[in-house]
Amino acid sequence: MLSTFRVASRSAAPRGVNLRTVLIGARNASAWANVPQGPPDAILGITEAFKADSFKEKINLGVGAYRDDKGKPYVLPSVRAAEDKVVADRMDKEYAGITGVPSFTTAAAELAYGADSSAIKDNRLVITQTISGTGALRIGGAFLQRFYPGAKKIYIPNPSWANHKAVFSDSGLEVAQYSYYNKDTIGLDFEGLIADIKAAPEGSIILLHACAHNPTGVDPTEAQWRQISDVMKQKGHFAFFDMAYQGFASGNADKDAFAPRHFVKEGHNIALCQSFAKNMGLYGERVGAFSLVCENAEEKKRVDSQIKILIRPFYSNPPVHGARVASTIMNDPALNKQWLGEVEGMASRIIEMRALLRTNLEKLGSKHDWSHITSQIGMFAYTGLKPEQMDTLAKEHSVYATKDGRISVAGITTGNVKRLAESIFKVTG
Ligand SMILES: Cc1ncc(COP(=O)(O)O)c(C=O)c1O
Repeated sequence: MLSTFRVASRSAAPRGVNLRTVLIGARNASAWANVPQGPPDAILGITEAFKADSFKEKINLGVGAYRDDKGKPYVLPSVRAAEDKVVADRMDKEYAGITGVPSFTTAAAELAYGADSSAIKDNRLVITQTISGTGALRIGGAFLQRFYPGAKKIYIPNPSWANHKAVFSDSGLEVAQYSYYNKDTIGLDFEGLIADIKAAPEGSIILLHACAHNPTGVDPTEAQWRQISDVMKQKGHFAFFDMAYQGFASGNADKDAFAPRHFVKEGHNIALCQSFAKNMGLYGERVGAFSLVCENAEEKKRVDSQIKILIRPFYSNPPVHGARVASTIMNDPALNKQWLGEVEGMASRIIEMRALLRTNLEKLGSKHDWSHITSQIGMFAYTGLKPEQMDTLAKEHSVYATKDGRISVAGITTGNVKRLAESIFKVTG
């Protein structure tokens, strides 16, 4: 077709007229002429505004990445050591299999489910390496869209991580919300949550943040998790866990995995997304895993084959370097111990910064109850500040965070907490 068109154009072009001009004219307009401008990413917008601010003591509490007490990105010493080992081993650069580096996925499964989990022992766990937590969610979404026998609709908490809705809609699932956060108590709306889960049609897919709920930092207690599990069992709901912060919440990887492990013990065949971005600080290496607990080994075999068929046209197979680093850490007993200590160190610094922020606010004589700052857990704190107050914080105090009042506690340091508390106090009283 194209060659015919070219010949015709050439013969039709008047003498002296550039052939290229004719062709471009004939093409009408760019293929992308009608692509609408999309809104900027909320977090990137904050980073831009932060960068443009020349005030020396500006504070960025928008980014969801750990910072040390000097406000600097932190590469875990265990990661550096594992990386050195991987490089020294002069490994080849061959493709991994579709589901990634086996020594990594085996260790990731044990970290999440516990080595004594029946899902592992009974050989009924399907697991694949993924492009970090987001990739795990996307593979999970696509698998449910293709094979889930019930309604292709997923219930996510209100609010939830900003990307959940986009990931699941792009996977072809309908997205609905269940109650999660009570803005009056700045805590969990447990009654609302249970009521909504009960009201959802039998066999609904429910997304649960395993720990360190993003953006609220509000987690159910272990007793509440038990109740959620019971209600979901009664209703035959499917539990889809997103665990992006294992170890990072309490400092203890086993404790943070309580919810998914409890669900499996209770007989739920769950889906689980893991990210090693936060707990190993492997953000840019994109290391994660997606797993599905099956009924038995025979079912596992079939599901595994379909997971491979699904991933192959997505990206063929995942990158190996980050997975080798994570695998080295998890499979070397000394490094593993060191890493768990470092995760605990990060979690402790976050917990300490929460306490410091609260006491600084209280010392200033704030009339508000700031106990939620310390009762919440994980990288983010939901301050309860309103969008206008967040605007004032940015414009008048050079403190940058998302408009929903979420602050990344990782951005707080012993050096900036006093000024931060003073700024919040000036805005809220
Ligand atoms: C709740 C939640 N899920 C998933 C992710 C995915 O992160 P990543 O793709 O970097 O592993 C994040 C990251 O912030 C998160 O907060």
